[in-house]
Amino acid sequence: MELDQILKQRQSIRKFKNVDIPDSDIEEMVKAAGTAPSGKNIQNWYFVAIKQEAAKKAIGEIIEKKKEGIARKMDEVDGDKAARFRKFVKNFTFFATGAPVLFLVFAENYYPSGYREYELINAPREVLDDLLYHRNPGMQSIGALLQTFSLKAVDMGYGTCWLTSANYAGEEIQKWAQDEGIFFKENYFLAAMMALGVQEEGARSPGRKTLEEIYTLIK
Ligand SMILES: Cc1cc2nc3c(=O)[nH]c(=O)nc-3n(C[C@H](O)[C@H](O)[C@H](O)COP(=O)(O)O)c2cc1C
Repeated sequence: MELDQILKQRQSIRKFKNVDIPDSDIEEMVKAAGTAPSGKNIQNWYFVAIKQEAAKKAIGEIIEKKKEGIARKMDEVDGDKAARFRKFVKNFTFFATGAPVLFLVFAENYYPSGYREYELINAPREVLDDLLYHRNPGMQSIGALLQTFSLKAVDMGYGTCWLTSANYAGEEIQKWAQDEGIFFKENYFLAAMMALGVQEEGARSPGRKTLEEIYTLIK
């Protein structure tokens, strides 16, 4: 498929057909994703692909449980916001666990160039945090990985949905993966999930900003 056509066709898919995806196709997509660039070529990523219904259900329950814990505390402060949060998470777990394949995407902690140097000269915490949280190449590399994955999926006739709304339960999900003997690696954390499958028709993408809104050319 031409690149322009792939870019046009890619959209977030939240409803999938109940069709199995061959393991070899999954491998091909992960392999393609692994060609993505990364800061210092650190390749700070690891995919766990989950087809097993019981495992997807377990992840959904972890997200649900964490949500309820937060929402109960929110009830005491703002009932409307708690209700909105409950509704939002319900949609989200459905997207994630209704997909034929759910990927857990792990990332390795990455300390940007300058971070250790700043530490050495006792730079203020805000300066260190700014580098770590706003400008971190580690997460930019994960973005490159997942965009490459998504485009390859479209090229192979599949749809994806990149998922970070449940990152508030990331620690619990990664602990579950560790306890189940599925994945543990020192300094790796759950950065995102990705739903994959053959898409149901009817997905609609929201609009985009105009060129003028996202671009300046200085000549
Ligand atoms: C980093 C990132 C996180 C996202 N997290 C979620 C998510 O948790 N749930 C969801 O339904 N969509 C999620 N999306 C999909 C966006 O909502 C979607 O890309 C955006 O609305 C544009 O729509 P399109 O992808 O169909 O063009 C995420 C996308 C990105 C890039």
